[in-house]
Amino acid sequence: MVQVKPTQVLELLAATPLLNSITPLSERNPSSSIQATCIFAASIHPQDKMAAVNQVYIAIIGAGGVGKCFLSQLQALAARRPSPKLSLCYISTSRKALYNVDYSPVSLDGVTESLAASTQAPPPLPQVIDYLASAPAKVILVDNTSSQDVADAYPLALSRGLSIVTPNKKAFSGSYKLWQDIFTAAATSGAKVYHESSVGAGLPVISTLKDLVDTGDKVTKIEGVFSGTMSFLFNSFAPTEGQGGKWSEEVKKAKALGYTEPDPRDDLNGLDVARKLTILARLAGLPVESPTSFPVQSLIPKELEACSTGDEFLEKLPAFDQQMEDTKAAAEKAGKVVRFVGSIDVATQQVKVGLEQFDRSHPIASLKGSDNIISFYTERYGSNPLIIQGAGAGGDVTAMGVTGDLIKVLSQIA
Ligand SMILES: NC(=O)c1ccc[n+]([C@@H]2O[C@H](COP(=O)([O-])OP(=O)(O)OC[C@H]3O[C@@H](n4cnc5c(N)ncnc54)[C@H](OP(=O)(O)O)[C@@H]3O)[C@@H](O)[C@H]2O)c1
Repeated sequence: MVQVKPTQVLELLAATPLLNSITPLSERNPSSSIQATCIFAASIHPQDKMAAVNQVYIAIIGAGGVGKCFLSQLQALAARRPSPKLSLCYISTSRKALYNVDYSPVSLDGVTESLAASTQAPPPLPQVIDYLASAPAKVILVDNTSSQDVADAYPLALSRGLSIVTPNKKAFSGSYKLWQDIFTAAATSGAKVYHESSVGAGLPVISTLKDLVDTGDKVTKIEGVFSGTMSFLFNSFAPTEGQGGKWSEEVKKAKALGYTEPDPRDDLNGLDVARKLTILARLAGLPVESPTSFPVQSLIPKELEACSTGDEFLEKLPAFDQQMEDTKAAAEKAGKVVRFVGSIDVATQQVKVGLEQFDRSHPIASLKGSDNIISFYTERYGSNPLIIQGAGAGGDVTAMGVTGDLIKVLSQIA
């Protein structure tokens, strides 16, 4: 490393066009010899810059509900932990992007507004990956979308050395080949991939399962309520105490409160839960081919599958209330309540999603609000499962899982 005196730095800066484009001369602080050394090193060789400034670039795709909460957590993290220096080098939605070709940082202050005002369109993903892979420091790509296209690009990104953190389920619950390609690419390049929030939002579901498996416990069964929407619906439709409302009324109420997707059929078809089960089953060692390769019970009446809009579906749903009333009554007759659950029997390799009856005293029956609950039955825990319970949706808690993953990656690469 070449050492320079602070007073030499101004001359060096003036002769360094790239650096002048990053930070105005007036904003630089020549009184810091560490900073001076770093700036000088950058002007002669990018590798020296990496050695001198412990810097990690963050690239973010997706700035919706979770993305915005993540941005505010990232800004707080960057302020709290000055090293490694976290620099945002790319951010995009599906239509807009913000980045600088010379990798000068995009300011986190007001970044959502800057992105909304941007006239840059996002380049095609392979180009974005090229840009990030050529950055003069390590890069963590944060995928805050639910895009299959972005998920399909993970093997390429990882093979180019980009680490990935994401709440997006698509990559890990798509084809088994994509799952294998992702982890092969990561193992080969050494890049990291974490996806805690893809199941149970910020709840430590994936990290707990990984710890159980990695420490040699034998997971025999995983069972739980994996959807905040289904949790809310059944906790109010078939409460442990009281009558509960009509099914169609509860679905309408859940939609009005923002608990469902714009078209509630996207929750009621069970696919979202099936995707989460696929991820957990694979982590438990089962080579599940896809979320449609095991039984998934849909709560959409056959006759309403063809409705052209969610509103039309909600209008026609009351005509099918009796089916759900019968299901509730059958459970009540047995002294139980009905819940929409997913389960993985590891020994028999059976994965299923659908309605089940539970004793009123069972932890799954007495869940409240829109909480998730996930029980891990293992050899070590015996007949009393390890239970994780709490909010399984919401921007802040989901972003917490993403930020936690980011911190894990930083501790390994920076
Ligand atoms: N919200 C929760 O409670 C929760 C809980 C657990 C997991 N998650 C997961 O977290 C992820 C984000 O959820 P969210 O609620 O934040 O979704 P959201 O509000 O719909 O935001 C999605 C963001 O991704 C962008 N996007 C979509 N496709 C893109 C593409 N191909 N390229 C670039 N940007 C793209 C969207 O941009 P445009 O606006 O331009 O389309 C938007 O900014 C999803 O995978 C979701 O399943 C969410």
